[in-house]
Amino acid sequence: MKVLVSAASRHGSTAEIAEAIGDTLRSRGFEVTVAPPDDVGALSAFDAVVLGSAVYTGRWLEPAIGLARRVGTDIAGRPVWLFSSGPVGDPSRKLVQQMGADPVDMPAVLKASGATEHKMFPGKLDRHDVRGLQRAAFLFFPGIEGDFRDWQPIREWAGSIADQLQAAPVA
Ligand SMILES: Cc1cc2nc3c(=O)[nH]c(=O)nc-3n(C[C@H](O)[C@H](O)[C@H](O)COP(=O)(O)O)c2cc1C
Repeated sequence: MKVLVSAASRHGSTAEIAEAIGDTLRSRGFEVTVAPPDDVGALSAFDAVVLGSAVYTGRWLEPAIGLARRVGTDIAGRPVWLFSSGPVGDPSRKLVQQMGADPVDMPAVLKASGATEHKMFPGKLDRHDVRGLQRAAFLFFPGIEGDFRDWQPIREWAGSIADQLQAAPVA
């Protein structure tokens, strides 16, 4: 069974989550392609799709939204899972919990792609990736810089996708 894992990423940390998901699926015996949305050609070869995006100012990145639409039209009916990477900082803080809310475009992305599930994972923020006025965020919100990705839940989620695919193989 061929699975596409694709994620839109500005600074690489969400792309690394896609790689980790791909590795777990490969270890479970699936034929996996990991590629950024803009590099994904014909979808017809894929039996299932895992699609993700980094979240910026509450939204998915455009290339991921575009691929979600293509998935919903080109391979409608095949299983699709969505993930986002975003919240940075101490998860007990209110601001971080607010960041962890679903991106505003998620209802539309779920509908367009035909996915039934969306999972949010903590992200990574590097001071050097933030330019101009946005750097003020580090003054107002101390503790948001760092790598907050937690690989265990990411691998577990990928494992649950493998379980679901193996329980109900695509015809
Ligand atoms: C300008 C800016 C805006 C952001 N807005 C959000 C947001 O609204 N919600 C969220 O959860 N994370 C937000 N983040 C955090 C990023 O989603 C996080 O750093 C993510 O891991 C980046 O992924 P990437 O390395 O793949 O680009 C923001 C980061 C920056 C620099």
